[in-house]
Amino acid sequence: MKVCVIPGDGIGVEITAEALRVLEALRGDGLKIEFEHALLGGCAVDATGKPYPEATSKLAREADAILLGAVGGPKWDTLPREQRPERGLLGIRADLGVFANLRPAILYPELANASSLKPEVVSGLDILIVRELTGDIYFGQPRGIEERDTQWGRQRVGWNTMIYAEEEIRRIGRVAFEAAGKRGGKLCSVDKMNVLECTQLWREVITAMAAEYPDVELSHMLVDNAAMQLVKAPKQFDVIVTGNMFGDILSDEASMLTGSIGMLPSASLDANNKGLYEPSHGSAPDIAGKGVANPLATILSAAMLLRYSGEDEANAVRIENAVRKVLAQGLRTGDIYEAGTQRVGTKEMGDAVIAAL
Ligand code: IPM
Ligand code: MG
Repeated sequence: MKVCVIPGDGIGVEITAEALRVLEALRGDGLKIEFEHALLGGCAVDATGKPYPEATSKLAREADAILLGAVGGPKWDTLPREQRPERGLLGIRADLGVFANLRPAILYPELANASSLKPEVVSGLDILIVRELTGDIYFGQPRGIEERDTQWGRQRVGWNTMIYAEEEIRRIGRVAFEAAGKRGGKLCSVDKMNVLECTQLWREVITAMAAEYPDVELSHMLVDNAAMQLVKAPKQFDVIVTGNMFGDILSDEASMLTGSIGMLPSASLDANNKGLYEPSHGSAPDIAGKGVANPLATILSAAMLLRYSGEDEANAVRIENAVRKVLAQGLRTGDIYEAGTQRVGTKEMGDAVIAAL
């Protein structure tokens, strides 16, 4: 496999280094994998003036998979929108067509106390959010800010377009139905069909697909209710499928049910299982460079990379078991530390995973 490694900004650099060491340890054990490094986000702006340089696009397109750390930081917050690090992230997602974003939210039994919810509400939690990633109001045209006549006089207005084509809904629907079929057999589609035409179409298309998947029990929920149900009774969910914007919000909410966003990986796949793999968390500028960030979400993203783009379930499971083992040994980075456990840094956590492998 050819993997394009994009450390990015902030803690992205430290955590991808650990994930690479884990993959290299497996290479020593027979895994065939090669790495090329590329720039994205703030570091790319500094080096080339662009958040998603052509050289990165070329390497990413040629690779079988991309392993990404995180992008962004206060240093680049005042740049115009086109140059912001987030533009790099949205640019690479759109460029590679990775429309299916899989965001698992799993509560590891060892971390049951990390959640802000009562243990009985979250124990055993295992949700998969399937978020559409290359459409919706994130990319819809037209969009902009311009001066117009309004009922309040001449002033600036800002607007965006929420838009989905039927086939765009169907292809993410397929990913979600198939994922549900391989898991608990329940799929909840989230929309706002009582207000938005775009999501009324979403509900119609998803509903029409259900007949093709008789083993999956389909339900629908309005997004405001889904946000509420996620904190009230999160274990009612198995797989959730939703659009880009609602998925952005609900996946942050779901990840924090586990209390440890530092533990959660993600995969963004195209139609051929080429994928972009990244932790669900951001670049955490406040702790960058201190060697204390939790590398486990990125290490678990590397496991997803082997599973989906490498069709190497065995090595994916080896990594996941190694992570469970270090948790069972009581090793914790600061974000998941609690009294009675052993606090370790980024590199020591990587060492422990490799030892467990
Ligand atoms: C995410 C992030 C991105 C998004 C930002 C950084 C553009 O919040 O991956 O969830 O909104 O998709
Ligand atoms: Mg987000």
